[in-house]
Amino acid sequence: MQEFHNQTDITKKNAFTQTQFINWQTQAKAYKTYPKFYRRYNLDDYEELRFIKNFGKVTYSKKYGNDEVKLRVNPSAGGLYPCEIYIQIRGIKKFLNGIYHYEPLEDSLTLIHELSNDGLESYMNIKQQKFIFLLSNVYFRTSWKYEKRAIRYLLLDTGHQLGSIYASLVLEDMEHLFNFKFKKKQLNKAFSFDKYEHFVASIYSSEYKDIETNKLRDNIPFVPPCDYYIKEPFIEEFYSHSYHKSFDNLKINFLKELSKENLQSAINNRRSVRAFKQEAITKEEFETVLKDVFIIARKYNIEIFFINNLIIGLKKGIYKEFQLQEEGNFNDISTTLAFNQKIGGTSSATIFFTSKIRTNYSLALILSGFLAHIISLRATNLQISSTGIGAYFDDITQDTLITSNNILYLMAVGK
Ligand SMILES: Cc1cc2nc3c(=O)[nH]c(=O)nc-3n(C[C@H](O)[C@H](O)[C@H](O)COP(=O)(O)O)c2cc1C
Repeated sequence: MQEFHNQTDITKKNAFTQTQFINWQTQAKAYKTYPKFYRRYNLDDYEELRFIKNFGKVTYSKKYGNDEVKLRVNPSAGGLYPCEIYIQIRGIKKFLNGIYHYEPLEDSLTLIHELSNDGLESYMNIKQQKFIFLLSNVYFRTSWKYEKRAIRYLLLDTGHQLGSIYASLVLEDMEHLFNFKFKKKQLNKAFSFDKYEHFVASIYSSEYKDIETNKLRDNIPFVPPCDYYIKEPFIEEFYSHSYHKSFDNLKINFLKELSKENLQSAINNRRSVRAFKQEAITKEEFETVLKDVFIIARKYNIEIFFINNLIIGLKKGIYKEFQLQEEGNFNDISTTLAFNQKIGGTSSATIFFTSKIRTNYSLALILSGFLAHIISLRATNLQISSTGIGAYFDDITQDTLITSNNILYLMAVGK
């Protein structure tokens, strides 16, 4: 996997090759729609299913001339939204047991497969569940703009999308288990994805019946996930390599410290900051935002650094977790690292997610996105702004942090 990472580095030498101009008229469609004649269900009509709206609902609309851009609860590199969500549901009153496709812009579910004695459980070696949430990537939505470097953004976006699902389940007190190790290849086939779309992660919640299930009795029909598609062999190869890795189940306990009202309001109000006013945040606030993040990160071989630009009560400088590595003012360097984006240097802190070479690369990217999402919700709750930063110099960041780790993601936090 290291080769895939190396080939997508932004460095001092190759920076000039980064896409400078993009014609937004050619953007691929950012959501999949099954045909009109499929049965659809509005989430507002089902009390027990309303929580699903928090997975991806629209929370802000921006107008650019005649175009309207709809921003969702989950952030996405370039606002391109490459993730699709499929949900298998059992045992909800007046609701068919089936596999549904989630339509975030419509707050609705489309029935794509009715269950009998079959189900997704058979691809995961688990007993019947009330809910199984499956995440796929439609990679062209992102590679359209970011070309090969899209491999990173796709998995970071996946992590954020998992974070949105996780927060929604916490809000409902629903137990949940993340599972990255299921028969993705077989499921891609059963959903007729034909390499246009790739399953990447699943979460399941609430055991339903102690019953074994069979494989899906029919394949789900192919429906194109975009209005057009340009295939990228490099990215398809990347996904095919991810299959061979074994992933752990992930058990975590974040966001339970927030009241239900505050969590819902953080979900509704999270936004990526576009410019900081450069007001300071306190050490206590920063620690609250990061509570237990280092511990979980470490468990999965992610090493977190940060540069303190403007946190009161903490010496300015470069930190590895909370250990000061080098004291000093690094505002300008922080901007440079973030591919010369000002948000990198005007933040109170810019956080760096890194992982050692030879750790599970795909999982490290997904988890970095997930942890960044937790940070963003906690920060929103404290009226602190944040944004993920996927465009950064790999080589200068490694030199500045004095690490040979892969740099996976940056996150700017501040006011
Ligand atoms: C993986 C990832 C990478 C991102 N990279 C950048 C970046 O380099 N610079 C930036 O200003 N915003 C970045 N963003 C923020 C997105 O532009 C933002 O999420 C998107 O426009 C949607 O807006 P929202 O987050 O306010 O809903 C990134 C977001 C994600 C999830």
